[in-house]
Amino acid sequence: MKIMLFGPQGAGKGTIGAMLSKKYEIPLLSAGQMLRDAMKEGTEVGKIAEKYINEGNLVPPEVITNVIKERIVKDDCENGFILDGFPRNLEQAELFGEKMDEIDYMIEFEAPRELLIHRLTGRRTCKNCGEVYNIHPDCDPNPKVSGKCDKCNGELYQREDDTEEAIKKRLAIYDEETVPVLEKYKDRVVKIDAGDNPQAIFERVVKVLEKGSQ
Ligand code: AP5
Ligand code: MG
Repeated sequence: MKIMLFGPQGAGKGTIGAMLSKKYEIPLLSAGQMLRDAMKEGTEVGKIAEKYINEGNLVPPEVITNVIKERIVKDDCENGFILDGFPRNLEQAELFGEKMDEIDYMIEFEAPRELLIHRLTGRRTCKNCGEVYNIHPDCDPNPKVSGKCDKCNGELYQREDDTEEAIKKRLAIYDEETVPVLEKYKDRVVKIDAGDNPQAIFERVVKVLEKGSQ
């Protein structure tokens, strides 16, 4: 099963993507996380990506498309994959070419802007394993011990692009560049209300994947 998750920053692509990955035993390929890993490792791609990411801009289309194309041919993608955050503009969809036709489900998460900004300002990520948490009591999941990852006890940090300024820029880029991709594929895109708790959203997606509708 090959799935693409779309949605503005903070809609829960990473959160719900991880739940789907566990259930269907297929890898979650987050374009942003792959780039952040490359930055941490100091690879050529990471060096290029750094300045774009920290300022909330998209990295050049050929760079990210090559990263994704190289990743989806690995053995663990044999039974499928979940793409989170790719393609993010028409150029990337074009560069992905006929692989777009092989995607079984295109899911779009929708949520009000104020809720997205609220979630993002509370997001904390594990420095060690990349697990995502939130410090706002009304967001999910909260870490059991403040500042520490439940899974590996790693330190939690705030992403550099989660400042209010970078968030606004990223949301504007989403409207300008990613929304046209959703319009182009509107016959294939299934919209999901992502304003709820993660379990409710997850169940809505599972229904679509298994029954074809919500
Ligand atoms: P990326 O890492 O993909 O970030 P993003 O698209 O900006 O999306 P987010 O990760 O911010 O949102 P999300 O929907 O995953 O939300 P999450 O589940 O964490 O990309 C980062 C950067 O990389 C880009 O800006 C760009 O520079 C570069 N890049 C990436 N892809 C690229 C591409 N294709 N081309 C070019 N450049 C690219 O949830 C948010 C928070 O809310 C969390 O704290 C979570 O715990 C909480 N939460 C989630 N769901 C719920 C819920 N239902 N209820 C309560 N709380 C919730
Ligand atoms: Mg994410």
